[in-house]
Amino acid sequence: MRCQVRFLPSERMIEIEAGERSLLEATRLAGLPIASACGENGACARCGVEILDGEESLEPETERETRIKERNRIDSELRLACRVHPSGDVTIRASYW
Ligand code: FES
Repeated sequence: MRCQVRFLPSERMIEIEAGERSLLEATRLAGLPIASACGENGACARCGVEILDGEESLEPETERETRIKERNRIDSELRLACRVHPSGDVTIRASYW
């Protein structure tokens, strides 16, 4: 099954296999920039993105993800794009897209 990832404000969209790629990978496949300083290991929190729609299509936040966001002082509402793999359609936002 495939799902759509929509990127705002760029309005770019991409289709990926559900559950197989992280949001960070999807972002790169869409040709958009995304920060990463930890080799996509869920440690730097630079890849935080806002989930506008489709939160239920992502894995629930783990204690580790919460801790990493607190430690790196990023908005608790953001999700770490390298940690989540959409299983359905999602719309995400980063101010620099
Ligand atoms: S790339 Fe470092 S936490 Fe996602």
